[in-house]
This record gives sequence, structure tokens and C-alpha cells, in this order.
Amino acid sequence: MDRGFSNARLIMFTLTLIFFTSACENAAETRATTDPSAVEKNHSPGQPSEEGKIKIGFSMDTLEEERWLRDRALFKEAVENLGAEVEIMAANEDDAKQILQAETLISQGVDLLVVVPNNAEATAAIVNKAHLAGIKVISYDRLVKNADIDMYISFDNEQVGELQAKAITELVPKGRYVLIGGASTDYNAHLLKKGVFNVLQPYIDRGDITIVYDQWTDNWTPTNAYKNMEVALKANNNHIDAVIAANDATAGGAIAALEAHGLAGKIPVSGQDAELAAAQRIVVGTQHLTIYKPLNMLAEKAAELAVKMAKGESIVADRKINNGKIEVPSVLLAPIAVDRHNIDETIIRDHFHSREDVYMVDQ
Ligand code: GAL
Repeated sequence: MDRGFSNARLIMFTLTLIFFTSACENAAETRATTDPSAVEKNHSPGQPSEEGKIKIGFSMDTLEEERWLRDRALFKEAVENLGAEVEIMAANEDDAKQILQAETLISQGVDLLVVVPNNAEATAAIVNKAHLAGIKVISYDRLVKNADIDMYISFDNEQVGELQAKAITELVPKGRYVLIGGASTDYNAHLLKKGVFNVLQPYIDRGDITIVYDQWTDNWTPTNAYKNMEVALKANNNHIDAVIAANDATAGGAIAALEAHGLAGKIPVSGQDAELAAAQRIVVGTQHLTIYKPLNMLAEKAAELAVKMAKGESIVADRKINNGKIEVPSVLLAPIAVDRHNIDETIIRDHFHSREDVYMVDQ
């Protein structure tokens, strides 16, 4: 959906992506697999492997969004730079598969488990199994609910929602709003929504802003977001003034629906994740902003915490997040709002994307 850039650019971008993925595939220490039986059992928790290295298990939910491919490559690199090794498995948004994969990582004796939960509640079982095996668990980006999780590291997701709503209310202080939420199984979607309402509520109370549609988007997919937006447009005879979409994937789906009604670029839309397609939409004017989260900071800090905790070193966490069971020691990083005015000095300056790719101009 909606990728307007040239073949040469497409080839360049795909090559970059292949670099990120192949870096994972053929690194000797790293085995990124979805097949639990393919993993050797040669290590017991807390005991360095034959090579004397700490072994970290990384149980990922999905590789669907652009960002998770980066998270995987950046986390692998950061763990190895600390002299440890990492075992990565991705569950393609399948809860049962994620639990099975985590059991495999636990049974092969990783020293610590890092989890990106697909379902915040279902993954509590993984934490319990890991603890029974004497393995600590870090929640990466998304929080595991109702479990004795040892550490949570993410960006401040409530602040992500506040930044989105602040930017859109600056443009549309009065009007009819559509909220295209994230996946209800993902606690980030709930934190984000809380942030959005922290900003919108006073406008709603004054009667300036009306929420005319508000829905979660299963699995954060563009297709489901498209369907949500179609329903919202139909129910409101296209009379909508602003859209707060939870991330760039859902923003892409919503904008495609607006496009189909000749409204793209006329109604401001928010996003998150600074995906390339979103950065291009911001430049051409069909998306108003995205939230940039410097993933290298998240991956490096998570790797540092994981290796330290695996070695039994004490960790200082400056925040606590209640996950329904305990106050989880947490590290929350600052997200950055990006629109066409600061896109150069943020995602381009950081080489998150190249200027050529974002502005779709020849080298
Ligand atoms: C969220 C994450 C976002 C987004 C989404 C979809 O948990 O914070 O960056 O991309 O998942 O995978």
C-alpha cells in the first residue's frame, strides 16, 4: 500500500533491509529461527557456555513492522559487542508459538530471557516458566501484564500518545476526531491511548472536540486500519477533521482509505515508528507527523541490562510501572515527535533513513 518511490530507490531500500536481515541470518553465534526443535541444548542457566559466553534468549512477537527487523539486528549487535551471544526467535503474532519458542530457549539454558510479548496477558506464562528454571525476564518495548517481570525497558508510550495528540490539536483545536488504535492485546496501545486522552479530555469537556470513532486495530495491520477508517468515514459521511492513528502501519491504512475518498492530505493524520513510507508521506503532506523512537538506544540499553542481570549484577531502574501484579522496575526512553519541519535534524541526521529515500530524490 502507498509506497510512491522509484524502482532504483526500491532496490536500494530492499538491499538495506536485506543487509539488516542477512546480518542476522549468517552470524555464527546467532540462530534466528521459528523452529523450536532446531535449537541445540548445550547450556545451563547462569553457567557460561562452552565458549564461556553469557547466552541471552530474545523471544520476539513479530517481524511484520519495519522497526522489529531493526530491533532484531541492533539487539544482536549490542549483545555481541558486550561479549555475549543471543538466540532469537520470532512468533509471527502467534501466542502458542511464542510460548513454545520461549520454552525452547529456557530448555536450552539461556542465562536471561528478553521478551517482546504478542499478548500482554498470555506471556505471563513465559515469565513463570523462566523463573521456575531460575532465569530472569526483561520485557522489551511492550509490557508483560500480571507477572513478576524483572525489568521493563521501552520508550514512554504514554508520552507517545501525548505527543501525537498535542501535534494534531495544534492543527485542529476544534472538530470531529477519529482514533485508530493499536492492537488491544498490546499494553502499549492502552498506554498510548491514555496519553492521547490526557491531552484530548479538556477539549472534549469544553465541547471543542468530539470523538466520532474510536477502535482498536487487530495486530496493528494496515488492512484492519483501512477497514476501521472506511467504517468511520461511512458513519460520519466523510465529515471528519482529524485522525490519531497509533502507528505508521495503521496510519498508512487510514490514509489509503482517505485517499479512496479524495481526502488524503486534507485531514491531518498522526503515526509512530518513523517508517520510511511514513517519512515520505510527511514530505508529500498526506501524513502530519510520526513519533521517532531511536531504536539503537533501546536495543543497546536492553542488551546492557540483559548481560548485567545475567551476570547477577545489580541494576538501577529510575521508574516503576504497575503491570497489574507488581511495580515493575522500568527504564523509559524519550520519544520524539517528527513532522516536516524537523525531519532533517532528527531521523535523517541520525541516518535512520537517508535524505534521498525520504525526499525520493536522486542521489
Ligand atoms: C508497539 C510498538 C510500536 C508499533 C507496534 C506494532 O508495541 O511500540 O512501535 O510498531 O507495536 O508492532
